[in-house]
Amino acid sequence: MQTKRVTIDAQHPQTEWIKEAAQLIREGQLVALPTETVYGLGANAMDAHACQEIFKVKGRPQDNPLIVHISDLAMVKRLVEEWTPQAALCADKFWPGPLTLVLEKTAFVPDVVSGGLGTVAIRMPKHPVALELIKEAGVPIAAPSANLSGKPSPTQGIHVWKDLKGKIPLILDGGPCAVGVESTVLDLTDEVPTILRPGGITKEQLEEVLGEVAVDRPAPDQAPKAPGMKYRHYAPKGELTLLIGERKNVIRKIKDELRKGHSRLKKVGILCTLESAPELHSQLPDLLFVLGSEHHPEEVAGNLYQGLRLCDEQGMDMILAEGVSEKGLGFAIMNRLQKASGQRVMRV
Ligand code: TXA
Ligand code: MG
Repeated sequence: MQTKRVTIDAQHPQTEWIKEAAQLIREGQLVALPTETVYGLGANAMDAHACQEIFKVKGRPQDNPLIVHISDLAMVKRLVEEWTPQAALCADKFWPGPLTLVLEKTAFVPDVVSGGLGTVAIRMPKHPVALELIKEAGVPIAAPSANLSGKPSPTQGIHVWKDLKGKIPLILDGGPCAVGVESTVLDLTDEVPTILRPGGITKEQLEEVLGEVAVDRPAPDQAPKAPGMKYRHYAPKGELTLLIGERKNVIRKIKDELRKGHSRLKKVGILCTLESAPELHSQLPDLLFVLGSEHHPEEVAGNLYQGLRLCDEQGMDMILAEGVSEKGLGFAIMNRLQKASGQRVMRV
């Protein structure tokens, strides 16, 4: 298949591209689209056959359900059994935005979308291209991140192109995604709202609106409530080690590990904060990628997946990543780094 990648204006999307993309969605085809978190691989959420294609194209396990994206609150009626007061509060405060709500689903939602669960995950994205496309298509759009399964999520059109060219007809390239990590997935089917996946809306922000908020932390032998969280996602090819601790200890350990790697003729990449970069730069790593300032987690989130992808593209065998504070957006960042490390974490 020929893949067309068009540049679309993120703020004022050109009508011709929105129309073309919406037509494809209505015909049951797949379109990659920018959202404020990461790029999505979209299909008509009410078309089971089209949604099945998403799994094929990504190589995604069938039991991992999709998020349904809406442009308008009227669309939830066909999707959920009950629009709970907590859901209304969250939507009022955080939609459009990087928050996904898990609610009891109706029979209209195809089983392939919900991965056979009795619930459906819904989000109203903030990106004008995503909103316009859903509106023009006139149907909710099911969209996972537009990467091949197991790769870091795409935060730029070029990432989607590299993963999916030849497999889908159209990529709407709206430039880099503002948030850079995926949405927070919040389960509202229990009394206490539970974060199944940390993301763009922080636990602190949710607590302000909802009061008590729990975090799903399954024991190693338990299944997480978001099926996707059990997979080793966001994984670069190189072996990533996450280093956590006081800066001077982390820097010392990174230097040690770098030396060890080089003595074994490994290519070693470093992902670190702006504050640690000067000292680590002098150790001549094969790649030094600055994630952003430790005082600006939104910068770190925005650069994270690009950093992981660059390590792969430049053939790093080993990646040493500096951890950040788990406060606010840092919780989501550390969750992704931990997953990328396959739990290879050093506390120093
Ligand atoms: O920011 C995002 O959420 C991006 C953009 C494109 O919107 N999408 C995204 O989708 O990250 P995906 O498929 O890569 O991740 C969806 C996550 C998975 O962990 C999945 O298991 C979980 O949401 N999920 C989906 N439906 C669910 C449900 N009914 N119950 C529990 N977890 C669900
Ligand atoms: Mg994903």
